[in-house]
Amino acid sequence: MKGFKRFLITSALPYANGPLHIGHLAGVYVPSDIYTRYLRAKGKDVISICGSDEHGVPITLKARNEGVSPQDIVDKYHLMNKNSFKKFGIDFDIYARTSAKIHHETASQFFKTLYDNGDFIEQETEQYYDNEASQFLADRYITGTCPHCGNENAYGDQCENCGTSLNPTDLINPRSTISGNKPVLKKTKHWYLPLDKHVPFLKKWILEEHKNWKANVYGQCKSWLDMGLQPRAVSRDLDWGIPLPIENTKGKVMYVWFDAPIGYISATRELTDDWEKYWKDPDTKMVHFIGKDNIVFHCIFFPSMLKAEGSYILPDNVPANEFLNLEGEKISTSRNWAVWLHEYLVEFSGKQDVLRYVLTANAPETKDNDFTWKDFQSRNNNELVAILGNFINRALVLTQKYFNGIVPELSELTDFDKETLEEIPKLKKKVENSLENFRFREAQKIVMDVARLGNKYLADTEPWKIIKTDKTRVGTIINISLQITANLSILLEPFLPFTVEKIKKYVNFTKWNWEMIGQKDLLPPGHKMNQPSLLFEKIEDKTIEKQVNKLLQTRKISENTTEIMEQKDIISFDDFTKVDIRTATILEAEKVPKTTNLLKLKINTGVGERILVAGIAGHFDPDEIIGKQILIVLNLKPRKIRGIESQGMILMAETGEGKLTFVSPTEKIPDGCTVK
Ligand code: 2FM
Ligand code: ZN
Repeated sequence: MKGFKRFLITSALPYANGPLHIGHLAGVYVPSDIYTRYLRAKGKDVISICGSDEHGVPITLKARNEGVSPQDIVDKYHLMNKNSFKKFGIDFDIYARTSAKIHHETASQFFKTLYDNGDFIEQETEQYYDNEASQFLADRYITGTCPHCGNENAYGDQCENCGTSLNPTDLINPRSTISGNKPVLKKTKHWYLPLDKHVPFLKKWILEEHKNWKANVYGQCKSWLDMGLQPRAVSRDLDWGIPLPIENTKGKVMYVWFDAPIGYISATRELTDDWEKYWKDPDTKMVHFIGKDNIVFHCIFFPSMLKAEGSYILPDNVPANEFLNLEGEKISTSRNWAVWLHEYLVEFSGKQDVLRYVLTANAPETKDNDFTWKDFQSRNNNELVAILGNFINRALVLTQKYFNGIVPELSELTDFDKETLEEIPKLKKKVENSLENFRFREAQKIVMDVARLGNKYLADTEPWKIIKTDKTRVGTIINISLQITANLSILLEPFLPFTVEKIKKYVNFTKWNWEMIGQKDLLPPGHKMNQPSLLFEKIEDKTIEKQVNKLLQTRKISENTTEIMEQKDIISFDDFTKVDIRTATILEAEKVPKTTNLLKLKINTGVGERILVAGIAGHFDPDEIIGKQILIVLNLKPRKIRGIESQGMILMAETGEGKLTFVSPTEKIPDGCTVK
């Protein structure tokens, strides 16, 4: 933390083509907000930049699907997303838009500088074109199989499965997203940033000078740099975007990933006339908060642009997170498998901090992680209510009860009092260390240890037992509990800002800052406090059951998987006969606890009863399928799923839309019959 005069925190500019969900919050915006609030609490010069990414194919595709203009789409979602962030307390200094005039000017100037410097290569090549739509197919207008990982739905600019950045011509079996047709090749001229030329700089800057970056970020960069980089087109044949500032280039715009990161610069310009000190003084620490699919653009592409331009600083760190899954499945906008922020804000009004807390406790910092409603409930009930709320509430209520809401005097301290108070600065140091190294889960856990410390202190000193005999001692105990509460509030603010607002109201005091942590007089004796209320309330089973049911019921049919799967590789007859397929009957079925999609089945196989675990709970009610005759693979090696050994596998047919149906004999026959 030493050595920097100021901080520039950027958070990935979300596309204004749809609402935000919990994956966005967990991956990027809650961590960036915690970090920014922490720096502000320390009194640092910090600005936090975000806004809408309003160009690019995702926007035009959405507009095309809805039969409206791209401008209609971005106007709608810019406002909606700005509002969601605000309501979750994600406190950006500015939430800008890349359709703004200042952004068009900034990006055009940047492009022009590179163009004039000769930093681009100009080249005529053959690009994919959709004859039916009369359009070149850039970026998300084209999908196909990723040559690196085999993902069949990779986009023309990137595979979201392995993160690799691609060109449309890299895709195997390319298809137009507009018509579904196989595209043809057609000549067109474009400008390219020769990333290959920047490899020596990138290798030195990242691999040698930034070994401290998170392992997932450093590892991805290393593997791309080891693979070698190709020139990357910075222009597109599209009618939505920033026109190229070059003569005779009608119909051509900047590649969205060229203009979007410049959005951080234009937003800073919009925010303050003093913007240059944040972007051009090496004493500024710039940190990009992003999700893992943005690593290549923030660690390779944008830094190469900045380096080529020459007058800007480079990011000091890019603490990218992995992805958050939902109830064991990938969050998907098209399948409506998501918890949408605007809906949460209505259904859990006033509980923004609960979601902030859960998403941090379970943040995908080093690997993909899972959000489940069960975990949401248990973290709320067992941690926020039972640990944090319980301690603060007891401290405040006891002050009202025994001292009329007035902070009592501190008298002689016991060794236990001193030890308890001495813990606070130690925990503060640990929290700082975790935050400065972008380990937000760990930091929040340590803050909760302060609440645990408070609970232990009250449980061990038992003021309620001595109030009648030793009110002076109780005064000391309550005073110490209130100092713990105040210290805890400062530590909590970056994580749970709404809760801290409430505490400040109850204790009738607001002027704390980070450097005061550890003080024993944050609430001075004689200070009058207000009546408290509960900080958190229990979440009942029925509340989360409703959410899980809503997810299952509103799950949509995928837009991307309507096609029939291609034939797999040829196998020999011998290979086929190794698979022992039999008729069987379902005897019992029940949901596997704490999962949404798994059923535990007892089946009769004709050669004995077996237990199977199948991922079909989202499609069938357990009661409906009892007695059903099905086909199973009898000789599949047993596997443990959620602690249950699954001895075989049910055969199901799956439509391109993801609908599952059993494969059954057309008439009832004995169980155990072979299928060939
Ligand atoms: O992945 C996305 O949602 C992009 N719109 C992020 C852009 S980040 C920045 F460079 F603008
Ligand atoms: Zn891939």
